[in-house]
Amino acid sequence: MLKFQNLTKIYNTPAGKIVALSGVSFEVASGELVSVVGKSGAGKSTLVKILTREEKPSRGGVFFHDTNICELKGNKLQEMRRRIGVVHQDYKLLCEKNVEENLCYIMQVMGVCDQTIKKDVQKVLEIVGIENRVLHFPHELSGGEKQRLAIARALIHRPEVIVADEPTGNLDLYNTYEVINLFKKINEMGTTILLFTHDKEVVDSLKKRVITLDQGKLIGDDKKGKFIL
Ligand SMILES: Nc1ncnc2c1ncn2[C@@H]1O[C@H](COP(=O)(O)OP(=O)(O)OP(=O)(O)O)[C@@H](O)[C@H]1O
Ligand SMILES: [Mg+2]
Repeated sequence: MLKFQNLTKIYNTPAGKIVALSGVSFEVASGELVSVVGKSGAGKSTLVKILTREEKPSRGGVFFHDTNICELKGNKLQEMRRRIGVVHQDYKLLCEKNVEENLCYIMQVMGVCDQTIKKDVQKVLEIVGIENRVLHFPHELSGGEKQRLAIARALIHRPEVIVADEPTGNLDLYNTYEVINLFKKINEMGTTILLFTHDKEVVDSLKKRVITLDQGKLIGDDKKGKFIL
């Protein structure tokens, strides 16, 4: 479903070139839950940004069902962004909008009818377990609840893949495992998950495939992997 092909990313900065990714290739099949791990600076967020099209690779491509997402434009790019949902460490919620509005504004822009929106909002909030917070604002939510809302926002477009960049980075141990269990549940419901993290405990507890990056290079791909760095 997803094929990373010989990805290289070089950032050109006034202070010189930085090679963030170097010849990274791997494939992810539909339904997998894959952790991508590596020390700070290994290139995890760069890979996420290429997937979300915040950055383009210097060389190589990312194929999503045989379409190179690095070359998409306009409507096709918007469509891809709904099919690949993203969850960030710092939630990126709209602080002046309540839970329901955070979930439905894109659907409203797309012209989805109110009844469908209401039903879908209720459904995703039940999945993530914050159905009792519909009218609350982000500042009224705990860290764990904010991350659940961010996951609900990714889920509402029924994405085929969810990409999460350090989704537990701001959470305490309890909420970390709540969020990880939620990703497991979403994965069991059929959504492919790519979890980018440097949290060794989390990765080891999952007992799923682990891809290891080190200084921009892929140095490990283990079926029931453990964090080896
Ligand atoms: N916009 C940028 N311009 C220049 N260099 C960058 C930029 N973004 C990242 N880098 C560099 O690219 C390398 C990879 O960074 P990246 O953010 O992908 O690492 P990471 O694995 O996500 O690290 P962390 O665990 O700290 O989040 C680092 O050396 C970083 O300094
Ligand atoms: Mg990062």
